[in-house]
Amino acid sequence: MIPVQSKVGLFAFICLLLISVALCRHSPTGTVDYQGTEVETQSLNGKWILRNNNGSLNLPAEVPGCVHTALQKQNFIQDPYYRFNDLDYRWISLDNWTYSLTFNVPHSTRRMKRVVLLFDGVDTVSTITLNGVTIGTTDNMFRSYEFEVGGLLNAKDNLLEVGFMSAVTYASQRDQAHSEYKVPPACPPPVQKGECHVNFIRKAQCSFSWDWGPSFPTQGLRGVELQAFNFIRLQSFTASTAWDSSLSCWNVEVELFFDVAVATDGCFTLLLPELKVFQKFQLSIKPDQTRKSLHLQIPSNVSVDLWWPNGHGEQTQYLLFMEGRTESRVTFHTETQVAFRTVELVQEPIPSSPGLSFYFRVNGRPIFLKGSNWIPAHAFLDLVTPDTLRNLLQSAVDANMNALRVWGGGVYEQDTFYSLCDELGIMVWQDFMFACALYPTEQDFIETVREEVVQQVRRLKSHPSIIVWSGNNENEAAIATDWFGIPVAERPRYVKDYVTLYVENIRTIVQKEDKTRPFLVSSPTNGVESEKEGFVARNPYDPHYGDTHFYSYLNDCWDWRQFPRTRFASEYGFQSWPSLSTLSTVSKPGDWNYLSSFSAHRQHHELGNTQMLLQAALHYILPNSTDALKHYRDTLYITQVMQAQCVKMQTEFYSRSRSEIIDGEGHTMGALYWQLNDIWQGPSWSSIEFGGKWKMLHHFAVDFFSPVQAVGFEENDTLKIYGVSDLSTDFNFTVTVTVYEWSSLTPVCTEVSDPCVLKGGEAMLMMQVSVPTLLRDCGRCDRHSCLVTYDLKDPANPNNQHGPTGHLFLTSPKEAGLQPPNIKASVERDGDMFAFTLHCEVVAVFVWLDVGDVAGRFESNGFLLLSLKRTVRFFPWRPTSVEELSKKLYITSLRDVY
Ligand SMILES: *[C@@H]1O[C@H](CO)[C@@H](O)[C@H](O)[C@H]1NC(C)=O
Ligand SMILES: *[C@@H]1O[C@H](CO)[C@@H](O)[C@H](O)[C@H]1NC(C)=O
Ligand SMILES: *[C@@H]1O[C@H](CO)[C@@H](O)[C@H](O)[C@H]1NC(C)=O
Ligand SMILES: *[C@@H]1O[C@H](CO)[C@@H](O)[C@H](O)[C@H]1NC(C)=O
Ligand SMILES: *[C@@H]1O[C@H](CO)[C@@H](O)[C@H](O)[C@H]1NC(C)=O
Ligand SMILES: *[C@@H]1O[C@H](CO)[C@@H](O)[C@H](O)[C@H]1NC(C)=O
Repeated sequence: MIPVQSKVGLFAFICLLLISVALCRHSPTGTVDYQGTEVETQSLNGKWILRNNNGSLNLPAEVPGCVHTALQKQNFIQDPYYRFNDLDYRWISLDNWTYSLTFNVPHSTRRMKRVVLLFDGVDTVSTITLNGVTIGTTDNMFRSYEFEVGGLLNAKDNLLEVGFMSAVTYASQRDQAHSEYKVPPACPPPVQKGECHVNFIRKAQCSFSWDWGPSFPTQGLRGVELQAFNFIRLQSFTASTAWDSSLSCWNVEVELFFDVAVATDGCFTLLLPELKVFQKFQLSIKPDQTRKSLHLQIPSNVSVDLWWPNGHGEQTQYLLFMEGRTESRVTFHTETQVAFRTVELVQEPIPSSPGLSFYFRVNGRPIFLKGSNWIPAHAFLDLVTPDTLRNLLQSAVDANMNALRVWGGGVYEQDTFYSLCDELGIMVWQDFMFACALYPTEQDFIETVREEVVQQVRRLKSHPSIIVWSGNNENEAAIATDWFGIPVAERPRYVKDYVTLYVENIRTIVQKEDKTRPFLVSSPTNGVESEKEGFVARNPYDPHYGDTHFYSYLNDCWDWRQFPRTRFASEYGFQSWPSLSTLSTVSKPGDWNYLSSFSAHRQHHELGNTQMLLQAALHYILPNSTDALKHYRDTLYITQVMQAQCVKMQTEFYSRSRSEIIDGEGHTMGALYWQLNDIWQGPSWSSIEFGGKWKMLHHFAVDFFSPVQAVGFEENDTLKIYGVSDLSTDFNFTVTVTVYEWSSLTPVCTEVSDPCVLKGGEAMLMMQVSVPTLLRDCGRCDRHSCLVTYDLKDPANPNNQHGPTGHLFLTSPKEAGLQPPNIKASVERDGDMFAFTLHCEVVAVFVWLDVGDVAGRFESNGFLLLSLKRTVRFFPWRPTSVEELSKKLYITSLRDVY
């Protein structure tokens, strides 16, 4: 459950033993197991048997696992992601599957006073029987389940069966049973090729399909265990911290949740070895009081290092040891980590602006949230490994992100995800799992949601990375802007259901269970203004309040005037296609055509493929090679160019709007583009392809989320350069603007601003020049023949550049005088890396290096090439060679596609 840091752990454990010997009467048993020495556990994971409803299929199946992965592993089916298999394999999710296991139970276990069967996750609707007796039913994949099974167990050949019902069938039956009024949407749009009524089942909402993902409503089990005990069992615990402002000190709160067979008195010790703080507690644990809170105050003369978001400081975490022993000698030892940080969501009046601010203050410091939105990393969750998560989250950090929103149409992520975010300094905006729909509020639905919320908050609240809970994705907006054509007269009923679910139930539970973080009812929302308006604001997209989601695919994304100058941009983005190497794992050469049925099939967003090209065509010449394969590759490339440049334009608009108010709008304090990762190999808004390969956008994010950067744009023929700083201190900078001709690598002219001080955590206009004047002064330049670059430098040492070099086109590249760059490259080994040396003679833009299926990462890609020679390093994730890389290297620049 919680990762154990073994080296420090051992040292500290010895301390704990020494101290606890001094503290408690009985000597410890030395067992490190938080369930306690007298809780016997027997894992029932491993090989089970799986069969379908009519018994025509019978196969071994792994737990944890799901039906699709079992069928694939046994070669009953191909890769479900291959070509059109999502349609061909629809029958799998329409069938009812039964997992069964035969197991023996030792006498010592059966003799215990209480025997419990624990299901760590059941996906989703099932009836569970043990030796023919029904022990329980399940209807929610976001919960764990426990059933008492004492008295039902034999020594040998116990038969445990989990009989699933198709999630699709269940959802449809629940919809039919809800006859009084409809709860829309009924079905996803046909382009998504999905299943209907997903809002009636507590299952990943995207598992019935989404506009970026397939429909695979699978059935499966996450982990099964038998636990037996005579006295008490520690079921779970939380360990969180809070700043007590009245006493000016930190408190650690540990909550212990027990399953009690017999009332017991206990002695508990909490120890923070690195801070040399410990405390002992005497507790009486009765069967009706199974939750115990322990409060450990950190004395104010003990200094603690704070946990900071990435880019703002260290992510310090402290070991916390817990030891419990009871009269009846039931003992547990466990260790976890705690971190000290505060978080506030600030919504207060802003001078010269209507509305309220909306930003996060962490440890008293206002923080601009830079990052993206997270979706499930696979349709089959058993295939999401810790390595996959680490690779994706490290990619987020490497792109200078400090925040991710775990989006409400997916899943509450596994523990490893949040532990990695704690470690890496990624702030998590955690949605509850409701998205883009209205939801029913029958009693049993509310009950299962309540249990889900309690369990998830308790599971996750110990993580410092989580900074806000949010009730749902876009459901306030769905009602407010009438996505589902609800007659005005019927609207109050839906608003009432909305308030019942997210406010009266979810918010009430979260605020009771976790007082250490803010709660938002929805995203986008106007925050406290939405609450004032009865939780469904007239316009939840109001830029003067809360967060906004904004999408516009056909308007020119280079025109920053169209973007809302919002307080907080929590969703915005553009689609692109992944690379050929990623697509070729699920397609064959006949599919490699932008107009193929495969290309149409993979696109789940209405008109998406056309929109990408229309947006690209506003500024770029579209590929027109007569070589079909090159034409296809170039088209994939141009969608990535379009996406990278559009999201950069929009993000830079948000970054430079952080410190100013224009026409009452501004003070933007967050830019989370949609979306970080992919669930399969298809077109989507992601910046990272399925498999981990970075798209051009992700390389651009490294720069546009850089801690300090220059942001250039044009307003009425004036080139304006803003400095944007996430630093904590002020710096004196000059801005250098350099003009280049497309046809040459020698700068035409350079202008340097006076030094000026860029305040830490602010954005400010540092230089402005009239473009016609600049071009005239430069001599032989016009908007078509030239482009500008700009950067920030230290005035005392002009060789010292801070942040990336930015560039601005003075006209669309399709109208500019780009010359074929004839880029030549060579590859050399450089230790564990490889160095690609590029040569070119004229300016090349959006230069893209691709080494096919050699997984790994270029240090930079999609760049502007302004020098005769440039070396770019490549970090492979698997063994490769100079020969392989030379063979697979494929270079494209904007001028190479026509
Ligand atoms: C049993 O179910 C499978 C899968 O749904 C189906 O293809 C098959 O025709 C069924 N067999 C019989 C005998 O009904
Ligand atoms: C699955 O179970 C449900 C409920 O018992 C039933 O209505 C449905 O026909 C079953 N589906 C199949 C494919 O047997
Ligand atoms: C903090 O103060 C307490 C008593 O006031 C003292 O016993 C302890 O040694 C002090 N700790 C540190 C780290 O100074
Ligand atoms: C730029 O021009 C537009 C249209 O003429 C005008 O509305 C706007 O105020 C101008 N902006 C500035 C900063 O002068
Ligand atoms: C900024 O740097 C310049 C050049 O080194 C210096 O003259 C100026 O005083 C500095 N300004 C501030 C506010 O530090
Ligand atoms: C592709 O487009 C470019 C630019 O319009 C043109 O010069 C070139 O001849 C075209 N090539 C083909 C094969 O049509």
